[in-house]
Amino acid sequence: MCGIVGYIGTRQAAPIILDGLAKLEYRGYDSAGMAIYDGEEIHITKSVGRLKVLEELTHGGATMPGMIGIGHTRWATHGAPNDINAHPHYNSEHTIAVVHNGIIENYLQLKKKLTDRGYEFVSETDTEILAQMLDYYYTGNPIETIAKVMHRVEGSYALGIIFADHPDEVFAVRKDSPLIVGQSVDGCFIASDVPAVLKYTRQVYFVENEEIVRLRADHMHFYNVDVEEIAKAPVTIEWDANAAEKAGYEHFMLKEMYEQPKTIRETLSPRLRDRDVVIDELQMSVEDIRAVRKFHIVACGSAYHAGVTAKYVIEGLARIPVEVDLASEFRYRDPILEEGAMVIVVSQSGETADTLAALREAKKRGFPVLGIVNVVGSSIAREADRVMYTWAGPEIAVATTKAYSAQLIAFYLLAVKFAKVREQITEKEFQGMLEELQRLPNQIELLLNNKGKIQKFANRYLAAKDVFFIGRGIDYAISLEGSLKLKEISYVHSEAYAAGELKHGTISLIEEGTLVAAVSTQPDLYQKTISNMVEVKARGAFVLAVTNEDNREIERAADYVIYIPQTNPFFANSLAIIPLQLFGYYVAVGKGCDVDKPRNLAKSVTVE
Ligand code: F6R
Repeated sequence: MCGIVGYIGTRQAAPIILDGLAKLEYRGYDSAGMAIYDGEEIHITKSVGRLKVLEELTHGGATMPGMIGIGHTRWATHGAPNDINAHPHYNSEHTIAVVHNGIIENYLQLKKKLTDRGYEFVSETDTEILAQMLDYYYTGNPIETIAKVMHRVEGSYALGIIFADHPDEVFAVRKDSPLIVGQSVDGCFIASDVPAVLKYTRQVYFVENEEIVRLRADHMHFYNVDVEEIAKAPVTIEWDANAAEKAGYEHFMLKEMYEQPKTIRETLSPRLRDRDVVIDELQMSVEDIRAVRKFHIVACGSAYHAGVTAKYVIEGLARIPVEVDLASEFRYRDPILEEGAMVIVVSQSGETADTLAALREAKKRGFPVLGIVNVVGSSIAREADRVMYTWAGPEIAVATTKAYSAQLIAFYLLAVKFAKVREQITEKEFQGMLEELQRLPNQIELLLNNKGKIQKFANRYLAAKDVFFIGRGIDYAISLEGSLKLKEISYVHSEAYAAGELKHGTISLIEEGTLVAAVSTQPDLYQKTISNMVEVKARGAFVLAVTNEDNREIERAADYVIYIPQTNPFFANSLAIIPLQLFGYYVAVGKGCDVDKPRNLAKSVTVE
């Protein structure tokens, strides 16, 4: 959600910024722009549309000479996506330029104050207010001025700033929106995320909340909001730049689906030791594990769906009650957290604004928070009391696949560990589960190799208007994710229902030819789901079933069946989701949709 790239050094800034912004395209955006300082003036070029438009306008950056610059991809919040609202924004004199990721909540108040003092605004954005405020409070000392503005703005921001009277410097600052800085032999960089700078450096600094950075061509200085210089240590990024490239796949999403077996192995293997599950990051003794009375799982989107699955798995195996909340609800519903409760927040990006706020809410109430996070060093990873990383590597496609799969594995590990320690399962059952977990990667490979069959089936549904996903228990959780995958990338309307709930209203939507995907992986519920399939089929639905190899009886109620290999029913989501991801993917490809960057969506939702 909005991407920032800044550069100061010995090379032309514009091509470096364009290149960095391209690496952040996955975040989602609707316009792009750059401000380049040529030593005399700050020039801005910006345009609505894809980065390609900005590249064409500037001939790949060649028409904007200068070794200092800031660039931005905007995901509109205040004001329509158009050329004027695109970033960067100037102050009236064009001596200050700003790019911004985040939302200034008191911007109307600030705008009124500035308007009363004679300032005029050309855009509808909250960002232009920041540029004008920097102008209003400008003392000649950028760090001091930035700090003054920080004291007056409410909301979230990551900013890149150029001051014309400081021709050898660029400034960066953040509060609640992600920002990193890095240094190479050719210069220093600002970015919203690591992939933008990986080509140039692996040594990055994660800018913390309310920290300000002064970047020069050959060094950087960090300050707190009291304008005191602070020391920071760099972090070395271990994954290589290729991990963030397509490697011959048509889309990142397809590549990432194919990375799921590896992701699962990497999430599992460091925690499977000597026939046991060892989750060092939990920092919990046997007594601590036994003392947990309840889990609260809090997340958004697909991460929430992983949490819904976890409810069934943890309650089923470890017999500990689990409440699952959407983070946007949890943070405002004054949740009841009682002694013995443990909060788990789940996030791929580690930057989702609502999830971060939920984490803070839980901590404020004195409850321990475990983060299940993919991005190392992200805000949630830093603020959670403990972090269990899902080793999925960088996920670029907006629609998550491999990170979701890794989240499921993290939950399975927790569930079997707690189940064993609390003596809810026997040693034999425990060992059986560990074997089943280790079989998942090969089983997923088999399912991925079957993609041709799913592609053919998907091609029959390119014109579908509505699709329903139904299932019971864990199959309902799988349906939630299958439905989201389809709708978010193919723009086909789809809904997930607990199968037993259909006849309480939704069944009236079923008509001749409506596609209903029935997920049936839970042997105890086979018959119940078959009954629901028969009900929709009798009303004209075409029924696609996703079920286990042993459930041949389903063929009497389904029009088309996709079989998944046999596993422990608690782990079935990891297999059943694969054909559903492929189905969503191939419908989107068939319709010519922008699979990796669906309209209106952002990879990292850093605003509320
Ligand atoms: C859907 C998807 C989103 C995210 C959600 C939370 O494919 O990717 O629903 O799951 O925005 O994001 P994270 O996990 O980064 O907190």
